[in-house]
Amino acid sequence: MNTRHLLSLLDLARDEAYAILRRAAELKQLRQQGIRPLLFERKVLAMIFEKSSTRTRVSFESAMIEGGGGAVFLSLSDSQLGRGEPIQDTARVLSEMCDAIMARTYAHTTVESLAAHSSVPVINGLTDRSHPCQVLADIQTYMEFRGDIAHARVAWVGDGNNMCNTYIEAAQLFGFQLVISSPRDYAATIDKSLLTNATINIEEDPVKAVAGADLVVTDVWVSMGQEHDTDTRRSALRPYQVNTALLQLANPDVLFMHCLPAHRGEEVTSEVMDRSNGVVWAEAGNRLHAQKALLEFLLRE
Ligand code: CP
Ligand code: NVA
Repeated sequence: MNTRHLLSLLDLARDEAYAILRRAAELKQLRQQGIRPLLFERKVLAMIFEKSSTRTRVSFESAMIEGGGGAVFLSLSDSQLGRGEPIQDTARVLSEMCDAIMARTYAHTTVESLAAHSSVPVINGLTDRSHPCQVLADIQTYMEFRGDIAHARVAWVGDGNNMCNTYIEAAQLFGFQLVISSPRDYAATIDKSLLTNATINIEEDPVKAVAGADLVVTDVWVSMGQEHDTDTRRSALRPYQVNTALLQLANPDVLFMHCLPAHRGEEVTSEVMDRSNGVVWAEAGNRLHAQKALLEFLLRE
């Protein structure tokens, strides 16, 4: 059996990604009409969290409950993972009892090991390398407000972190123009070969990077696991704050997105958050719909 996993956005073909996004929009509309199809009746999702979460946990758990199934939350502190049971053995055991596994881990190799030893789909719920579920929801949100993202110009402003890496993958997958603006020492950590793609450019100066942008995206300056480096990061990234003055240099109808949680006054001002036209809240809410569509796709495959 060839089990499909979602460790990276590039595990999807472009037509599969678009099909998932269309389905996500359809499921959102149905839910707004009070219809919650039983997509996951008697199905169980195991959720492993090495790191904290609000949106990822609630959206996956809600997706399973609304679809007629359930989700089991496992953290390091109250599962045998925290006492040294190997991830490979955990993958085999969870495959016996659950229909899919979602994991949020530090090392990306941990979700790769899970997938290598699991006979059920494994979903990356954020690693130090990438966050594909969030960017699926981001693309759904862009399409909801503006239509196809393929012809858009997207500016990533800030730390070259797991979200930035995933935008690089998204630019490959959907074909949009991506400009990445980060301080040199905080550049994207992803495989640099992806940066050879013609649609992706680096522009260290945030003022130049946002010119003509249809979408400006940022994320925290201190990701989970980087807390020891907080002061250095804050001072290096300060010129990359997304504020009203910077956004005014983008297209007049520019959208602003942030995966959240936001640190108001650091990577983004309160004013930008509060005047985002509800986009950041739709972006968070779309995690539910995009992940329902993703789970449906992976469980069907
Ligand atoms: N954006 C996101 O993944 O949020 P959580 O860390 O709350 O899950
Ligand atoms: N880059 C952030 C995203 C949080 C959803 C982190 O990894 O902490």
